[in-house]
Amino acid sequence: METFQSLLAKKLSDALAKAGLPNAGELTPATDPRFGDYQTNAALILGKQRGENPRTLAEKILAQLDVGDLCEPPTVAGAGFINLTLRADVIARKAGEVLRNERLGVPKATSTRRIVIDFGSPNVAKPMHAGHIRSIVLGDALARIAQFLGHEVIRDNHVGDWGTQFGMVIYGWKNLLDRQALQRDPLAEIVRIYKETNESAAKDPQVREACRQELVKLQAGDREDIDIWNECVALSMQDFDHVYKLLDIHYDIQCGESFYNDRLPGVVERLLKSGIAEISEGAVVVFFRDIPELADKPCIIRKRDGGFNYATTDLATVDYRANDLKADAIWYVVGAPQILHFKQIFKIARREGYKADFRHIAFGSILGEDRKLMKTRSGENVPLRDLLEEACRRARRIIEEKNPDLSEADKMEIAQKIGIGAVKYADLSQYRMTDYVFSWEKMLSLQGNTAPYLQNAYVRVRSIFRKAGESAPKVDELVLGDAAETNVAKRLCQFAEIVPQVLNDFRPNILANYLFELANSFHTFYEACPVLKSEEPVRSSRLALCELTGRVLQRGLDLLGIKVPEKM
Ligand code: ARG
Repeated sequence: METFQSLLAKKLSDALAKAGLPNAGELTPATDPRFGDYQTNAALILGKQRGENPRTLAEKILAQLDVGDLCEPPTVAGAGFINLTLRADVIARKAGEVLRNERLGVPKATSTRRIVIDFGSPNVAKPMHAGHIRSIVLGDALARIAQFLGHEVIRDNHVGDWGTQFGMVIYGWKNLLDRQALQRDPLAEIVRIYKETNESAAKDPQVREACRQELVKLQAGDREDIDIWNECVALSMQDFDHVYKLLDIHYDIQCGESFYNDRLPGVVERLLKSGIAEISEGAVVVFFRDIPELADKPCIIRKRDGGFNYATTDLATVDYRANDLKADAIWYVVGAPQILHFKQIFKIARREGYKADFRHIAFGSILGEDRKLMKTRSGENVPLRDLLEEACRRARRIIEEKNPDLSEADKMEIAQKIGIGAVKYADLSQYRMTDYVFSWEKMLSLQGNTAPYLQNAYVRVRSIFRKAGESAPKVDELVLGDAAETNVAKRLCQFAEIVPQVLNDFRPNILANYLFELANSFHTFYEACPVLKSEEPVRSSRLALCELTGRVLQRGLDLLGIKVPEKM
């Protein structure tokens, strides 16, 4: 099933060819509904390219543009835009098609790829904090959308489970551990022994040396140290799993840093042999002398003391994903502070000849109401688990107020959907590179661009059918009389255009904003047009419109990882 946009784009390129003009410009949704539904800047672009009058060019294109089967007669506006308005009967028919379509008209990608998505990827021996939410939620949404478009997705949790911090953790474990505290709150106790060791190491060279020794022993495979390390990792994973369960996050593989341990010497050897790396002041280093922005930023892959680092591990990871997993694309959903790191890694991988499509999907920070990085009152990172539990508690209060008669079980389930949904949506509805302020009031509001608002729109649809005591009638084609009705139908047809767009620049906020506008149009329609009290065939058509709105909201939110309640 083809979208209006792709049908019109084809007609435009046919018209350009017939007019003896090269393909140019874009066919996009209109920026302002007063100008119609779609527009193209082809004449403007060609005018500039050829030094001709764009309005004359636009007329020339119009003379060849055969869109009568879809649109009202097109018009030229402004400096040379061509505006297109869909015919109401065409929208009515298309909406009927979407209604019958299992995928709501969303086409599968023409070339499907195997994509490894590296997201979440927390470091062990520390609890996950609020800042981790972005990578998790963004990565999960992109994975869902890529999968829905037909790609094969491998979700990988690249856990930071191997690093210099373990020298201190193991030293602390052997000297400071309180077993009872460990039982009560394992991660808190691990953090405590780590912090205290860190402090005494700063003061006492003997402690420092002892920590270094532990690290050497761990890396050499000492049984006792390996056992301690294993226990720390397992305890951390338990904490992570709790968060993943709350967020409904699933991984296909969890190949943490330690997984690549015995591949690291091979990476360095290979890079030295190929001449991509060289020895500099005792370390093994890759220089980027030919790239101005990286010219003074070499990448160390083996330290002077022989130790490997984050970059070495990532190079081994590239090899595993490209050669063992046979990935066509590798997406790293990691915050903006690592932009330089990934530039270096991707450059090195290219020099080695890896062909995969590497993408660093970066994002900004979450700020507290004071516009600084979000912290607890005592200045600590906010544990993600606490934050999510608080979200559910607050959602619970809202439901208690809105619908006190619901059963206990219903309240629990709905609170979880709304609370978690609100946190996810607050993140996904922002452009990923912008820093945003975390605000409970805003994200849990039933008004505005929030998850509860969209969930409420879905619930409204469901309640219409509950009230009617019937399911959606079979309708081939809608009857569109009222402008509000046509508007909703048009938006519903656009779902198919929006979903694939998200992956162009990894922007789930495009989908979020679309759903918000759909809910707004639906709201307007619902206020303006009686549904159950209208006469046939209008009644059935309006019910179908409600049904389709519900399905698009549900599917759209599902692609963002957000669940809908049946009532709230
Ligand atoms: N563990 C890292 C951190 O918390 C993120 C890892 C991202 N993935 C990667 N392949 N480097 O900063």
